[in-house]
Amino acid sequence: MSAATPPVRKCILITGATDGIGLALANRLAPRHHLLLTGRRGTHPALPQGTHYVSADQADPTGAARAVTNALEQTGWAALDLAVLNAGTGFEASDGLDAADRIRQTLDVNLSATIALAHGLFPCLAAANGTLTLVGSVAHKGAARFPAYAASKAALHGLARALRSEWRGRVTVQVIHPGPVATAMHAKAGHDPGRLSRLFIAPDAMAAMMERAAATGGSPVTLSFAARALHAILPEKRL
Ligand SMILES: NC(=O)c1ccc[n+]([C@@H]2O[C@H](COP(=O)([O-])OP(=O)(O)OC[C@H]3O[C@@H](n4cnc5c(N)ncnc54)[C@H](OP(=O)(O)O)[C@@H]3O)[C@@H](O)[C@H]2O)c1
Repeated sequence: MSAATPPVRKCILITGATDGIGLALANRLAPRHHLLLTGRRGTHPALPQGTHYVSADQADPTGAARAVTNALEQTGWAALDLAVLNAGTGFEASDGLDAADRIRQTLDVNLSATIALAHGLFPCLAAANGTLTLVGSVAHKGAARFPAYAASKAALHGLARALRSEWRGRVTVQVIHPGPVATAMHAKAGHDPGRLSRLFIAPDAMAAMMERAAATGGSPVTLSFAARALHAILPEKRL
Protein backbone atom coordinates (compact mmCIF):
# COMPACT_ATOMS: atom_id res chain seq x y z
CA MET A 1 0.00 0.00 0.00
CA SER A 2 1.38 3.43 -0.90
CA ALA A 3 1.69 6.06 1.84
CA ALA A 4 -0.77 8.98 1.73
CA THR A 5 0.65 12.05 -0.06
CA PRO A 6 1.37 14.82 2.47
CA PRO A 7 -0.62 18.04 1.87
CA VAL A 8 1.25 20.58 -0.30
CA ARG A 9 2.63 23.58 1.60
CA LYS A 10 1.55 26.63 -0.36
CA CYS A 11 3.41 29.96 -0.61
CA ILE A 12 1.11 32.66 0.80
CA LEU A 13 1.46 36.42 1.27
CA ILE A 14 -0.69 38.22 3.86
CA THR A 15 -0.50 42.02 4.18
CA GLY A 16 -1.42 43.73 7.42
CA ALA A 17 -0.53 40.63 9.40
CA THR A 18 0.65 42.40 12.56
CA ASP A 19 -2.81 42.73 14.10
CA GLY A 20 -6.45 41.72 13.92
CA ILE A 21 -7.74 39.55 11.08
CA GLY A 22 -4.38 39.34 9.26
CA LEU A 23 -2.60 38.08 12.39
CA ALA A 24 -5.39 35.56 13.08
CA LEU A 25 -5.13 34.28 9.49
CA ALA A 26 -1.32 34.06 9.77
CA ASN A 27 -1.60 32.05 13.01
CA ARG A 28 -4.14 29.74 11.39
CA LEU A 29 -2.12 29.08 8.20
CA ALA A 30 1.47 29.09 9.55
CA PRO A 31 1.56 25.43 10.69
CA ARG A 32 0.53 24.24 7.19
CA HIS A 33 2.00 26.73 4.71
CA HIS A 34 4.97 29.01 3.90
CA LEU A 35 4.04 32.58 4.81
CA LEU A 36 5.41 36.01 3.90
CA LEU A 37 3.80 38.59 6.20
CA THR A 38 3.80 42.38 5.98
CA GLY A 39 3.00 45.31 8.23
CA ARG A 40 4.03 48.91 8.62
CA ARG A 41 6.09 48.26 11.75
CA GLY A 42 9.84 47.53 11.57
CA THR A 43 9.45 44.22 13.40
CA HIS A 44 6.73 42.42 15.30
CA PRO A 45 7.46 40.11 18.23
CA ALA A 46 4.20 38.12 18.10
CA LEU A 47 4.26 36.76 14.53
CA PRO A 48 4.03 32.97 14.14
CA GLN A 49 7.31 31.07 14.11
CA GLY A 50 8.90 30.15 10.80
CA THR A 51 7.25 32.97 8.86
CA HIS A 52 9.03 35.69 6.86
CA TYR A 53 8.27 39.33 7.62
CA VAL A 54 8.78 42.53 5.62
CA SER A 55 7.97 46.06 6.70
CA ALA A 56 5.93 47.77 3.96
CA ASP A 57 4.14 51.00 4.84
CA GLN A 58 1.25 51.23 2.40
CA ALA A 59 0.97 55.00 2.92
CA ASP A 60 3.72 54.88 0.26
CA PRO A 61 1.99 52.57 -2.26
CA THR A 62 4.83 52.14 -4.78
CA GLY A 63 7.45 51.81 -2.03
CA ALA A 64 5.33 49.15 -0.30
CA ALA A 65 4.86 47.17 -3.53
CA ARG A 66 8.62 47.34 -4.20
CA ALA A 67 9.44 46.17 -0.67
CA VAL A 68 7.09 43.19 -1.01
CA THR A 69 8.26 42.11 -4.48
CA ASN A 70 11.91 42.41 -3.31
CA ALA A 71 11.11 40.30 -0.24
CA LEU A 72 9.44 37.68 -2.45
CA GLU A 73 12.60 37.45 -4.54
CA GLN A 74 14.67 37.01 -1.38
CA THR A 75 12.50 34.14 -0.14
CA GLY A 76 13.39 32.31 -3.36
CA TRP A 77 9.77 31.30 -4.00
CA ALA A 78 9.31 30.70 -7.72
CA ALA A 79 5.58 31.34 -7.52
CA LEU A 80 2.91 32.62 -5.18
CA ASP A 81 -0.19 30.49 -4.58
CA LEU A 82 -2.21 33.08 -2.67
CA ALA A 83 -1.91 36.79 -1.85
CA VAL A 84 -4.33 38.13 0.76
CA LEU A 85 -4.24 41.93 0.52
CA ASN A 86 -5.72 42.63 3.92
CA ALA A 87 -3.93 45.71 5.30
CA GLY A 88 -6.40 48.50 5.86
CA THR A 89 -7.14 51.66 7.74
CA GLY A 90 -9.96 54.15 8.22
CA PHE A 91 -11.08 57.07 10.33
CA GLU A 92 -14.42 58.12 11.74
CA ALA A 93 -15.61 61.45 10.33
CA SER A 94 -18.15 62.81 12.80
CA ASP A 95 -19.92 65.15 10.36
CA GLY A 96 -19.39 63.01 7.26
CA LEU A 97 -16.42 65.11 6.14
CA ASP A 98 -12.96 63.59 6.50
CA ALA A 99 -9.84 65.75 6.85
CA ALA A 100 -7.80 65.83 3.63
CA ASP A 101 -4.79 63.98 5.11
CA ARG A 102 -7.05 61.21 6.39
CA ILE A 103 -8.76 60.83 3.02
CA ARG A 104 -5.32 60.57 1.39
CA GLN A 105 -4.06 58.01 3.92
CA THR A 106 -7.21 55.88 3.64
CA LEU A 107 -7.11 55.82 -0.17
CA ASP A 108 -3.34 55.23 -0.31
CA VAL A 109 -3.33 52.34 2.18
CA ASN A 110 -6.59 50.66 1.16
CA LEU A 111 -6.71 51.31 -2.57
CA SER A 112 -3.55 52.67 -4.25
CA ALA A 113 -1.25 50.25 -2.44
CA THR A 114 -3.58 47.35 -3.26
CA ILE A 115 -3.47 48.26 -6.95
CA ALA A 116 0.35 48.62 -6.88
CA LEU A 117 0.70 45.29 -5.06
CA ALA A 118 -1.69 43.51 -7.42
CA HIS A 119 0.33 44.68 -10.41
CA GLY A 120 3.67 43.81 -8.78
CA LEU A 121 2.49 40.36 -7.70
CA PHE A 122 0.83 39.36 -10.97
CA PRO A 123 3.85 37.49 -12.47
CA CYS A 124 4.38 35.40 -9.30
CA LEU A 125 0.66 34.67 -8.96
CA ALA A 126 0.32 33.75 -12.63
CA ALA A 127 3.30 31.38 -12.32
CA ALA A 128 1.31 29.37 -9.75
CA ASN A 129 -2.11 29.91 -11.32
CA GLY A 130 -2.74 31.47 -7.94
CA THR A 131 -5.40 33.50 -6.17
CA LEU A 132 -5.47 37.21 -5.35
CA THR A 133 -7.80 37.91 -2.42
CA LEU A 134 -8.73 41.52 -1.72
CA VAL A 135 -10.16 42.27 1.71
CA GLY A 136 -13.02 44.73 1.31
CA SER A 137 -15.79 45.39 3.80
CA VAL A 138 -19.57 45.35 4.02
CA ALA A 139 -19.00 49.14 4.20
CA HIS A 140 -18.44 49.09 0.42
CA LYS A 141 -22.19 49.67 0.13
CA GLY A 142 -21.81 52.90 2.12
CA ALA A 143 -21.25 53.45 5.83
CA ALA A 144 -22.33 56.48 7.82
CA ARG A 145 -19.38 58.21 9.53
CA PHE A 146 -16.84 56.44 7.27
CA PRO A 147 -17.19 58.07 3.83
CA ALA A 148 -13.56 57.74 2.67
CA TYR A 149 -13.28 54.22 4.07
CA ALA A 150 -16.53 53.18 2.37
CA ALA A 151 -15.35 54.73 -0.90
CA SER A 152 -12.02 52.88 -0.73
CA LYS A 153 -13.77 49.55 -0.18
CA ALA A 154 -16.29 50.21 -2.98
CA ALA A 155 -13.31 50.87 -5.24
CA LEU A 156 -11.75 47.54 -4.23
CA HIS A 157 -14.99 45.85 -5.25
CA GLY A 158 -14.71 47.40 -8.72
CA LEU A 159 -11.01 46.61 -8.94
CA ALA A 160 -11.66 42.94 -8.15
CA ARG A 161 -14.37 42.71 -10.80
CA ALA A 162 -12.07 44.24 -13.41
CA LEU A 163 -9.03 42.09 -12.60
CA ARG A 164 -11.12 38.93 -12.25
CA SER A 165 -12.27 39.40 -15.80
CA GLU A 166 -8.88 40.56 -17.16
CA TRP A 167 -6.81 37.81 -15.52
CA ARG A 168 -9.29 34.93 -15.94
CA GLY A 169 -7.49 31.64 -16.55
CA ARG A 170 -4.20 33.01 -15.17
CA VAL A 171 -4.99 34.37 -11.69
CA THR A 172 -8.24 33.97 -9.73
CA VAL A 173 -9.21 37.34 -8.28
CA GLN A 174 -11.76 37.66 -5.50
CA VAL A 175 -12.99 40.29 -3.07
CA ILE A 176 -14.12 39.31 0.40
CA HIS A 177 -16.36 41.68 2.37
CA PRO A 178 -16.18 41.01 6.12
CA GLY A 179 -18.85 42.25 8.49
CA PRO A 180 -17.85 43.77 11.84
CA VAL A 181 -14.93 41.96 13.50
CA ALA A 182 -13.68 42.40 17.06
CA THR A 183 -10.28 43.92 16.31
CA ALA A 184 -8.47 47.08 17.38
CA MET A 185 -9.36 48.69 14.05
CA HIS A 186 -12.42 50.42 15.51
CA ALA A 187 -10.41 52.07 18.30
CA LYS A 188 -7.62 52.99 15.83
CA ALA A 189 -10.31 54.67 13.70
CA GLY A 190 -11.52 56.70 16.69
CA HIS A 191 -14.83 54.84 16.70
CA ASP A 192 -16.64 53.38 19.70
CA PRO A 193 -19.21 50.79 18.54
CA GLY A 194 -20.61 50.55 22.11
CA ARG A 195 -22.72 47.53 22.95
CA LEU A 196 -22.90 46.51 19.30
CA SER A 197 -19.34 45.23 19.68
CA ARG A 198 -20.72 42.23 21.59
CA LEU A 199 -22.09 40.97 18.28
CA PHE A 200 -18.81 41.35 16.42
CA ILE A 201 -17.20 38.25 14.91
CA ALA A 202 -13.98 37.02 16.58
CA PRO A 203 -10.84 37.41 14.40
CA ASP A 204 -10.17 33.64 14.55
CA ALA A 205 -13.68 32.88 13.27
CA MET A 206 -13.28 35.43 10.49
CA ALA A 207 -9.90 33.90 9.55
CA ALA A 208 -11.52 30.45 9.27
CA MET A 209 -14.24 31.84 7.00
CA MET A 210 -11.63 33.65 4.91
CA GLU A 211 -9.65 30.43 4.45
CA ARG A 212 -12.81 28.73 3.17
CA ALA A 213 -13.53 31.63 0.80
CA ALA A 214 -9.95 31.68 -0.52
CA ALA A 215 -10.02 27.91 -1.07
CA THR A 216 -13.25 28.26 -3.04
CA GLY A 217 -12.21 31.31 -5.09
CA GLY A 218 -15.71 32.78 -5.43
CA SER A 219 -16.26 36.53 -5.68
CA PRO A 220 -17.68 38.68 -4.22
CA VAL A 221 -18.07 36.92 -0.87
CA THR A 222 -19.76 38.55 2.13
CA LEU A 223 -18.60 37.15 5.47
CA SER A 224 -20.97 38.48 8.08
CA PHE A 225 -23.46 37.05 10.54
CA ALA A 226 -25.35 34.80 8.08
CA ALA A 227 -22.07 33.40 6.73
CA ARG A 228 -20.88 32.70 10.29
CA ALA A 229 -24.03 30.65 10.98
CA LEU A 230 -23.57 28.73 7.74
CA HIS A 231 -19.86 28.21 8.36
CA ALA A 232 -20.65 26.58 11.72
CA ILE A 233 -22.64 23.79 10.06
CA LEU A 234 -20.66 23.25 6.85
CA PRO A 235 -17.69 20.86 6.75
CA GLU A 236 -14.32 22.63 7.08
CA LYS A 237 -12.68 23.72 3.80
CA ARG A 238 -8.93 24.27 3.92
CA LEU A 239 -6.30 25.63 1.60
N1 LIG B 1 -12.52 44.90 11.91
C1 LIG B 1 -13.61 45.02 11.16
O1 LIG B 1 -14.73 45.18 11.68
C2 LIG B 1 -13.52 44.93 9.66
C3 LIG B 1 -14.70 44.80 8.93
C4 LIG B 1 -14.65 44.73 7.55
C5 LIG B 1 -13.43 44.78 6.91
N2 LIG B 1 -12.28 44.90 7.64
C6 LIG B 1 -11.03 44.96 6.89
O2 LIG B 1 -10.19 43.90 7.29
C7 LIG B 1 -8.83 44.28 7.13
C8 LIG B 1 -8.12 44.02 8.45
O3 LIG B 1 -8.72 44.82 9.45
P1 LIG B 1 -8.55 44.52 11.00
O4 LIG B 1 -9.87 44.67 11.63
O5 LIG B 1 -7.77 43.28 11.22
O6 LIG B 1 -7.69 45.81 11.42
P2 LIG B 1 -6.41 45.93 12.37
O7 LIG B 1 -6.54 45.03 13.54
O8 LIG B 1 -6.24 47.38 12.62
O9 LIG B 1 -5.23 45.40 11.43
C9 LIG B 1 -4.95 46.08 10.24
C10 LIG B 1 -3.60 45.67 9.72
O10 LIG B 1 -3.27 46.55 8.64
C11 LIG B 1 -2.03 47.19 8.95
N3 LIG B 1 -1.89 48.55 8.44
C12 LIG B 1 -2.58 49.64 8.75
N4 LIG B 1 -2.07 50.72 8.13
C13 LIG B 1 -1.02 50.26 7.40
C14 LIG B 1 -0.07 50.88 6.56
N5 LIG B 1 -0.03 52.21 6.39
N6 LIG B 1 0.85 50.10 5.96
C15 LIG B 1 0.89 48.78 6.17
N7 LIG B 1 0.03 48.14 6.98
C16 LIG B 1 -0.91 48.89 7.59
C17 LIG B 1 -2.02 47.23 10.47
O11 LIG B 1 -0.74 47.53 10.95
P3 LIG B 1 -0.57 48.10 12.46
O12 LIG B 1 -0.60 46.88 13.30
O13 LIG B 1 0.75 48.77 12.41
O14 LIG B 1 -1.72 49.02 12.73
C18 LIG B 1 -2.52 45.84 10.78
O15 LIG B 1 -1.53 44.87 10.59
C19 LIG B 1 -8.84 45.75 6.72
O16 LIG B 1 -8.69 45.86 5.33
C20 LIG B 1 -10.22 46.23 7.14
O17 LIG B 1 -10.67 47.31 6.35
C21 LIG B 1 -12.29 44.97 9.00
